[in-house]
Amino acid sequence: METNISIRYQHHRTGEPQIYILQVDLDFNASSSFQYLALGSKYYLTMLDDGLGLYLAISALVVAVLSYCRKYRLNLSRSPLPPGPIPLPVLGNVLSLDSARPWLTFNAWRSTYGDIIYARLLGKPIIVVNSEEVAKDLFERRSSIYSDRPQSIVYEAFASDFNTGFMPYGNRWRLHRRIFHQAFHQTAVPAYHATVLRSAHKMMFSLLRDPENYPNHLQMFIVTFMLSIIYDCEAKAKDDRVANAITRYGKLIVEGFAPAAMTLMETFPFLLQLPSWFPGATFKRASLKCIQAGHDVKEIPFQYVKERMSANDMGPCLVADALNRTSEEDDVTITAIKEAASVAFVAATDTTTNTLLVFLLAMVLNPEVQAKAQAEIDRVVGKDRLPNLDDGPALPYLEAILRETLRWYPVVPFGIPHATTTSDIYNGHFIPKGVVVFPNAWAMTHDATKYPSPDEFKPERFFQDDGTLNSDTMRLGFGWGRRICVGRHLVDASLWIAMANFLAFFSAHKALDEHGMEIPVAPKFTTGFTVRPETFPCRILPRFPDVSLKTLTRSTNLGEKL
Ligand code: HEM
Repeated sequence: METNISIRYQHHRTGEPQIYILQVDLDFNASSSFQYLALGSKYYLTMLDDGLGLYLAISALVVAVLSYCRKYRLNLSRSPLPPGPIPLPVLGNVLSLDSARPWLTFNAWRSTYGDIIYARLLGKPIIVVNSEEVAKDLFERRSSIYSDRPQSIVYEAFASDFNTGFMPYGNRWRLHRRIFHQAFHQTAVPAYHATVLRSAHKMMFSLLRDPENYPNHLQMFIVTFMLSIIYDCEAKAKDDRVANAITRYGKLIVEGFAPAAMTLMETFPFLLQLPSWFPGATFKRASLKCIQAGHDVKEIPFQYVKERMSANDMGPCLVADALNRTSEEDDVTITAIKEAASVAFVAATDTTTNTLLVFLLAMVLNPEVQAKAQAEIDRVVGKDRLPNLDDGPALPYLEAILRETLRWYPVVPFGIPHATTTSDIYNGHFIPKGVVVFPNAWAMTHDATKYPSPDEFKPERFFQDDGTLNSDTMRLGFGWGRRICVGRHLVDASLWIAMANFLAFFSAHKALDEHGMEIPVAPKFTTGFTVRPETFPCRILPRFPDVSLKTLTRSTNLGEKL
């Protein structure tokens, strides 16, 4: 902050009017009072005349201004950090934390410390936001401060430095966001409805033929429509080079980003410097594989699109559309297109598959909810066709199930961490520059004052007394502000289509043991950055005894092609 102060006075001997300009340059971006003291206040005094009295007067003024500013600065830094548990030396709060599910610990700490909590994990300060109100204040109203991402040496080592979700706030990130926005903004998404519906129908064939393999079929649903939307590519046989490049990369980064492995690599970066032949250099070898897969995931699908574009054999898709808008010399944008395309895949596949698994689990555990939704579909859609998004407004209970699925078990429960670009004071709390800020989506979706009995799956909570849906469209799991999920509109459409078609055609039940007794399901969830229900025994049956492959073939026009 730079301030000019001009002082007018009469010269003590000549009586001539004089001006002193005092330029005070203060750095308010320093992240702590220590930095303030170290940086000090740089001030420059431009003397247009001299005189001892004046020197004294000016010096007094400088001291006064500086001490005022220092006091202001110290007041800023004296503001306490947000409340939180007392950290141990070196370890910080690690021992009191459920490190596999930190969102649960911070949710439990909410009653003691409140909606914004400060903690230290192995010397790293973090801030956790537990409420929607604080999240809106920080990530939306103060988005110029809270839109950065923390950086890690693991990103580059595991080919994720080009992932939009981990990228620092800046021009490269902006370019990615623009490419995503063009493809996935709210009014662009209806263009994909037909593709998504077709993929849902394919998924139903697979579920009918091989119900036990349901996690794979749900995942293939997403892979199929994403391949089409991004590369105009059909998922074909298992040796498909495009699908293989994507699946391989996805698998390797999930392994690389296992929280324990990440912590080890961040704590002991030399593990990534070891030569790959070195005994025990597991991380280095995994990193090299991942870097190769990261190269392939950008290049192989991209070359596929280029080849088809030059043969004039390309339909609309994210990559072709973006290339058509870009000059051939614009290497920066071309690289961003390759990167954004593969990021879309990674970002969409696990998250959407996991949400469908949560839905399926909820249906198995809550048969009365499933029956109610099916009755609604039968009443509105009938039994002779399958639902499509035009039926949406007439199926409010289905919409409530979708919202409740997103609320009951958000699949990115601790969000993607944000980071601050400058220090801040929020509600009297000092928020340091560069601190990592986690939006605790779990705490927000399990706030008992907003969602009574939050662990129960109750779609009814989204209805008002007059029987219409309320305005809570359950956005809490999609993040905030400038970094909000770019795929959220596509997610809404694809989840709706999958759920509606599944419920119209199938029922999910508990599996039976050899005596015909239902096997109880005790829900268990994986841990990590994204979470999903662990595979649970489940019987997926067509709802109507006369419904067969033939009926499905007739109502989808697909059958024989599959
Ligand atoms: C159920 C499915 C999904 C969930 C729950 C989900 C959730 C999230 C969350 C929590 C964030 C972080 C937001 C923040 O930092 O505040 C995010 C970011 C992101 N999502 Fe999604 N997502 C889903 C599906 C998708 C899909 C289908 C796509 C692509 C079409 C996508 C692309 C992205 C990208 C590129 C980012 C990074 C945004 C940035 O850092 O600027 N996501 N998502």
